[in-house]
Amino acid sequence: DLILTEKGFMQQNELSYPFEERGLQFGDGVYEVIRIYQGNYHLLNEHVDRLFRSAEAIKIEVPFSKTEMHEYLSELLEKNSVAKDAKLYLQLTRGSAPRSHEFPLNVSSNLYAYVKDFERDLESMREGVATVTLEDIRWEWCYIKSLNLLPNVLAKQHAKEHGAKEAILYKEGMVTEGSSSNIYLVRDGKVYTHPATKRILGGCVRMKIQELCKEKEIPFIEEAFQVEDISYADEMFATSTTAEILPILKVDTVSVGDGEPGKITRELQRLYEKDAH
Ligand code: PDD
Repeated sequence: DLILTEKGFMQQNELSYPFEERGLQFGDGVYEVIRIYQGNYHLLNEHVDRLFRSAEAIKIEVPFSKTEMHEYLSELLEKNSVAKDAKLYLQLTRGSAPRSHEFPLNVSSNLYAYVKDFERDLESMREGVATVTLEDIRWEWCYIKSLNLLPNVLAKQHAKEHGAKEAILYKEGMVTEGSSSNIYLVRDGKVYTHPATKRILGGCVRMKIQELCKEKEIPFIEEAFQVEDISYADEMFATSTTAEILPILKVDTVSVGDGEPGKITRELQRLYEKDAH
Protein backbone atom coordinates (compact mmCIF):
# COMPACT_ATOMS: atom_id res chain seq x y z
CA ASP A 1 0.00 0.00 0.00
CA LEU A 2 1.59 3.21 -1.19
CA ILE A 3 1.12 6.61 0.39
CA LEU A 4 1.93 10.07 -0.86
CA THR A 5 4.20 12.27 1.25
CA GLU A 6 5.93 15.62 0.70
CA LYS A 7 8.97 13.58 -0.33
CA GLY A 8 7.07 11.52 -2.89
CA PHE A 9 5.53 8.05 -2.84
CA MET A 10 6.54 5.45 -0.26
CA GLN A 11 5.27 2.29 1.41
CA GLN A 12 2.88 2.88 4.33
CA ASN A 13 5.22 1.16 6.79
CA GLU A 14 8.12 3.38 5.74
CA LEU A 15 6.48 6.52 7.12
CA SER A 16 7.62 7.59 10.57
CA TYR A 17 7.72 10.92 12.38
CA PRO A 18 9.88 12.29 15.19
CA PHE A 19 7.81 12.51 18.38
CA GLU A 20 8.27 16.26 18.23
CA GLU A 21 5.86 16.68 15.33
CA ARG A 22 3.57 19.72 15.38
CA GLY A 23 0.50 17.83 14.22
CA LEU A 24 0.94 15.46 17.17
CA GLN A 25 1.90 18.04 19.78
CA PHE A 26 -0.23 21.06 18.80
CA GLY A 27 -2.78 19.78 16.27
CA ASP A 28 -0.93 22.32 14.13
CA GLY A 29 -2.21 21.27 10.74
CA VAL A 30 -5.10 20.81 8.36
CA TYR A 31 -6.70 17.83 6.62
CA GLU A 32 -9.13 16.66 3.95
CA VAL A 33 -11.31 13.60 3.42
CA ILE A 34 -12.25 12.88 -0.20
CA ARG A 35 -14.65 10.19 -1.48
CA ILE A 36 -13.78 7.76 -4.20
CA TYR A 37 -16.72 6.27 -6.09
CA GLN A 38 -16.11 3.58 -8.69
CA GLY A 39 -12.41 4.36 -8.72
CA ASN A 40 -12.78 8.13 -9.17
CA TYR A 41 -12.45 11.05 -6.79
CA HIS A 42 -15.68 12.94 -6.17
CA LEU A 43 -15.57 16.77 -5.84
CA LEU A 44 -11.77 16.71 -6.11
CA ASN A 45 -11.40 20.38 -7.17
CA GLU A 46 -13.50 21.55 -4.24
CA HIS A 47 -11.45 19.54 -1.73
CA VAL A 48 -8.07 20.60 -3.13
CA ASP A 49 -9.17 24.25 -3.17
CA ARG A 50 -10.34 24.00 0.44
CA LEU A 51 -7.05 22.36 1.50
CA PHE A 52 -5.15 25.32 0.07
CA ARG A 53 -7.55 27.79 1.74
CA SER A 54 -7.19 26.05 5.13
CA ALA A 55 -3.39 25.92 4.84
CA GLU A 56 -3.18 29.57 3.85
CA ALA A 57 -5.41 30.60 6.77
CA ILE A 58 -2.93 29.16 9.27
CA LYS A 59 0.16 30.06 7.20
CA ILE A 60 1.30 26.55 6.35
CA GLU A 61 2.95 26.14 2.99
CA VAL A 62 1.60 23.35 0.81
CA PRO A 63 4.64 21.53 -0.62
CA PHE A 64 2.97 21.19 -4.04
CA SER A 65 1.18 23.47 -6.46
CA LYS A 66 -2.53 22.76 -7.06
CA THR A 67 -1.68 21.20 -10.44
CA GLU A 68 0.94 18.94 -8.84
CA MET A 69 -1.50 18.02 -6.07
CA HIS A 70 -4.06 16.88 -8.66
CA GLU A 71 -1.41 14.86 -10.52
CA TYR A 72 -0.06 13.18 -7.38
CA LEU A 73 -3.50 12.35 -6.01
CA SER A 74 -4.45 10.72 -9.33
CA GLU A 75 -1.18 8.80 -9.29
CA LEU A 76 -1.83 7.70 -5.70
CA LEU A 77 -5.15 6.24 -6.77
CA GLU A 78 -3.59 4.48 -9.78
CA LYS A 79 -0.82 2.96 -7.65
CA ASN A 80 -3.24 1.47 -5.12
CA SER A 81 -5.96 -1.03 -5.81
CA VAL A 82 -9.03 0.14 -3.94
CA ALA A 83 -12.54 -1.23 -3.93
CA LYS A 84 -15.18 0.72 -5.84
CA ASP A 85 -16.07 2.74 -2.74
CA ALA A 86 -13.12 4.23 -0.93
CA LYS A 87 -11.84 7.41 0.67
CA LEU A 88 -8.69 9.45 0.76
CA TYR A 89 -7.32 10.99 3.95
CA LEU A 90 -4.73 13.74 3.60
CA GLN A 91 -3.08 15.77 6.33
CA LEU A 92 -0.61 18.59 6.26
CA THR A 93 1.20 19.86 9.36
CA ARG A 94 3.66 22.67 10.06
CA GLY A 95 6.42 20.06 10.40
CA SER A 96 8.76 18.50 12.92
CA ALA A 97 10.77 20.68 15.30
CA PRO A 98 11.70 20.97 19.00
CA ARG A 99 8.50 21.78 20.90
CA SER A 100 7.87 25.52 21.11
CA HIS A 101 4.61 27.34 20.38
CA GLU A 102 5.86 29.85 17.80
CA PHE A 103 6.40 28.76 14.19
CA PRO A 104 9.77 26.99 13.83
CA LEU A 105 12.28 28.58 11.43
CA ASN A 106 13.49 26.78 8.33
CA VAL A 107 11.21 23.80 8.87
CA SER A 108 9.19 22.39 6.00
CA SER A 109 5.67 21.04 6.32
CA ASN A 110 4.81 17.34 6.58
CA LEU A 111 2.17 15.84 4.32
CA TYR A 112 0.76 12.38 3.95
CA ALA A 113 -2.19 10.98 2.06
CA TYR A 114 -3.53 7.46 1.80
CA VAL A 115 -6.52 5.79 0.19
CA LYS A 116 -8.58 3.11 1.87
CA ASP A 117 -11.66 1.04 1.09
CA PHE A 118 -14.74 2.59 2.64
CA GLU A 119 -18.29 1.28 2.44
CA ARG A 120 -21.26 3.58 2.07
CA ASP A 121 -23.67 3.60 5.01
CA LEU A 122 -26.68 2.80 2.85
CA GLU A 123 -28.85 1.85 5.80
CA SER A 124 -28.57 5.26 7.49
CA MET A 125 -29.19 6.98 4.16
CA ARG A 126 -32.30 4.90 3.57
CA GLU A 127 -33.73 4.75 7.10
CA GLY A 128 -32.65 8.12 8.48
CA VAL A 129 -31.00 8.85 11.83
CA ALA A 130 -31.59 10.28 15.30
CA THR A 131 -29.57 13.27 16.52
CA VAL A 132 -29.03 15.25 19.72
CA THR A 133 -28.33 18.95 20.21
CA LEU A 134 -25.26 20.23 21.99
CA GLU A 135 -23.72 23.65 22.58
CA ASP A 136 -21.05 24.53 20.02
CA ILE A 137 -17.99 25.23 22.16
CA ARG A 138 -15.56 25.45 19.25
CA TRP A 139 -13.40 28.45 18.34
CA GLU A 140 -14.46 31.15 15.84
CA TRP A 141 -12.48 29.80 12.85
CA CYS A 142 -14.37 26.63 12.04
CA TYR A 143 -14.07 27.32 8.29
CA ILE A 144 -10.52 25.99 8.55
CA LYS A 145 -10.44 22.18 8.33
CA SER A 146 -7.98 21.98 11.20
CA LEU A 147 -6.63 18.91 13.00
CA ASN A 148 -7.90 20.32 16.31
CA LEU A 149 -10.96 18.08 16.52
CA LEU A 150 -11.32 17.62 20.27
CA PRO A 151 -14.71 19.41 20.57
CA ASN A 152 -15.95 17.44 17.54
CA VAL A 153 -14.72 14.16 19.01
CA LEU A 154 -16.44 14.90 22.34
CA ALA A 155 -19.65 15.92 20.56
CA LYS A 156 -19.74 12.75 18.44
CA GLN A 157 -19.11 10.59 21.51
CA HIS A 158 -21.93 12.44 23.34
CA ALA A 159 -24.24 11.63 20.43
CA LYS A 160 -23.21 7.98 20.48
CA GLU A 161 -23.77 7.70 24.23
CA HIS A 162 -27.29 9.07 23.69
CA GLY A 163 -28.15 6.57 20.98
CA ALA A 164 -27.79 9.17 18.21
CA LYS A 165 -25.79 9.28 15.00
CA GLU A 166 -24.86 12.95 15.04
CA ALA A 167 -24.67 15.92 17.40
CA ILE A 168 -26.27 19.11 16.09
CA LEU A 169 -24.27 22.06 17.43
CA TYR A 170 -25.73 25.45 18.31
CA LYS A 171 -24.17 28.79 19.19
CA GLU A 172 -26.31 31.56 20.74
CA GLY A 173 -29.39 29.46 19.99
CA MET A 174 -28.55 29.14 16.27
CA VAL A 175 -27.75 25.80 14.68
CA THR A 176 -24.23 26.02 13.20
CA GLU A 177 -23.48 22.50 11.90
CA GLY A 178 -22.99 18.91 13.03
CA SER A 179 -19.91 17.45 14.76
CA SER A 180 -18.75 16.23 11.33
CA SER A 181 -21.47 17.38 8.93
CA ASN A 182 -23.52 20.33 7.70
CA ILE A 183 -27.14 20.57 8.85
CA TYR A 184 -30.23 21.64 6.89
CA LEU A 185 -33.87 22.32 7.71
CA VAL A 186 -36.64 22.17 5.12
CA ARG A 187 -39.84 24.17 5.56
CA ASP A 188 -42.52 25.00 2.96
CA GLY A 189 -40.33 23.63 0.17
CA LYS A 190 -37.31 25.77 1.09
CA VAL A 191 -33.93 24.53 2.32
CA TYR A 192 -32.35 26.53 5.16
CA THR A 193 -28.76 26.18 6.37
CA HIS A 194 -26.22 28.27 8.28
CA PRO A 195 -24.40 30.70 5.94
CA ALA A 196 -20.84 29.72 5.02
CA THR A 197 -19.24 32.12 7.50
CA LYS A 198 -16.18 31.44 9.64
CA ARG A 199 -18.41 29.65 12.15
CA ILE A 200 -18.87 26.53 10.01
CA LEU A 201 -16.88 24.35 7.68
CA GLY A 202 -18.11 25.10 4.16
CA GLY A 203 -18.75 21.49 3.15
CA CYS A 204 -17.93 20.26 -0.33
CA VAL A 205 -21.19 18.30 -0.27
CA ARG A 206 -22.91 21.53 0.90
CA MET A 207 -21.62 23.24 -2.28
CA LYS A 208 -23.04 20.40 -4.35
CA ILE A 209 -26.39 20.59 -2.53
CA GLN A 210 -26.53 24.33 -3.26
CA GLU A 211 -25.86 23.63 -6.95
CA LEU A 212 -28.49 20.85 -7.12
CA CYS A 213 -31.09 23.06 -5.42
CA LYS A 214 -30.39 25.81 -7.95
CA GLU A 215 -30.80 23.38 -10.86
CA LYS A 216 -34.13 22.12 -9.49
CA GLU A 217 -35.31 25.59 -8.46
CA ILE A 218 -35.52 24.57 -4.81
CA PRO A 219 -34.89 27.76 -2.78
CA PHE A 220 -31.56 27.36 -0.91
CA ILE A 221 -31.55 29.91 1.88
CA GLU A 222 -28.30 30.59 3.72
CA GLU A 223 -29.90 31.78 6.91
CA ALA A 224 -29.21 30.30 10.33
CA PHE A 225 -32.22 28.75 12.06
CA GLN A 226 -32.85 28.41 15.78
CA VAL A 227 -32.96 25.19 17.76
CA GLU A 228 -36.62 26.08 18.50
CA ASP A 229 -37.41 26.17 14.75
CA ILE A 230 -36.80 22.42 14.61
CA SER A 231 -40.31 21.73 15.99
CA TYR A 232 -41.74 23.46 12.87
CA ALA A 233 -39.49 21.68 10.34
CA ASP A 234 -41.03 19.57 7.58
CA GLU A 235 -37.71 17.78 6.99
CA MET A 236 -34.10 17.88 8.13
CA PHE A 237 -30.93 16.32 6.80
CA ALA A 238 -27.16 16.27 7.34
CA THR A 239 -24.42 16.08 4.69
CA SER A 240 -20.75 15.12 4.62
CA THR A 241 -18.24 13.41 2.38
CA THR A 242 -18.40 10.15 4.31
CA ALA A 243 -22.10 10.14 5.30
CA GLU A 244 -23.42 11.73 2.05
CA ILE A 245 -27.03 12.83 2.70
CA LEU A 246 -28.66 11.56 5.90
CA PRO A 247 -32.34 12.14 6.65
CA ILE A 248 -32.72 13.36 10.26
CA LEU A 249 -35.83 11.86 11.83
CA LYS A 250 -35.34 12.90 15.42
CA VAL A 251 -33.65 15.74 17.29
CA ASP A 252 -33.41 15.05 21.03
CA THR A 253 -36.98 13.93 21.83
CA VAL A 254 -38.62 15.80 18.93
CA SER A 255 -39.74 13.96 15.79
CA VAL A 256 -38.92 15.90 12.63
CA GLY A 257 -41.95 16.41 10.34
CA ASP A 258 -43.89 13.17 10.15
CA GLY A 259 -40.90 11.15 11.36
CA GLU A 260 -40.08 9.80 7.89
CA PRO A 261 -37.36 10.87 5.42
CA GLY A 262 -38.79 13.89 3.57
CA LYS A 263 -39.55 14.43 -0.13
CA ILE A 264 -36.88 17.06 -0.77
CA THR A 265 -34.29 15.02 1.15
CA ARG A 266 -35.12 12.01 -1.04
CA GLU A 267 -34.94 14.11 -4.21
CA LEU A 268 -31.51 15.50 -3.22
CA GLN A 269 -30.28 11.98 -2.39
CA ARG A 270 -31.36 10.84 -5.86
CA LEU A 271 -29.65 13.78 -7.59
CA TYR A 272 -26.48 13.39 -5.51
CA GLU A 273 -26.31 9.70 -6.33
CA LYS A 274 -26.55 10.53 -10.03
CA ASP A 275 -23.81 13.15 -9.72
CA ALA A 276 -21.45 10.82 -7.84
CA HIS A 277 -21.89 7.73 -10.05
N1 PDD B 1 -16.00 15.95 7.97
N2 PDD B 1 -18.57 20.19 9.14
C1 PDD B 1 -17.61 19.54 9.82
C2 PDD B 1 -17.26 20.00 11.19
C3 PDD B 1 -16.96 18.43 9.22
O1 PDD B 1 -16.00 17.79 9.88
C4 PDD B 1 -17.35 18.01 7.91
C5 PDD B 1 -16.71 16.88 7.21
C6 PDD B 1 -18.36 18.75 7.25
C7 PDD B 1 -18.82 18.40 5.87
O2 PDD B 1 -17.84 18.74 4.91
P1 PDD B 1 -17.71 17.94 3.54
O3 PDD B 1 -19.05 18.00 2.88
O4 PDD B 1 -16.67 18.69 2.79
O5 PDD B 1 -17.31 16.54 3.88
C8 PDD B 1 -18.94 19.83 7.91
C9 PDD B 1 -15.14 14.95 7.36
C10 PDD B 1 -15.80 14.10 6.37
C11 PDD B 1 -14.47 14.17 8.46
O6 PDD B 1 -13.99 14.79 9.40
O7 PDD B 1 -14.38 12.95 8.38
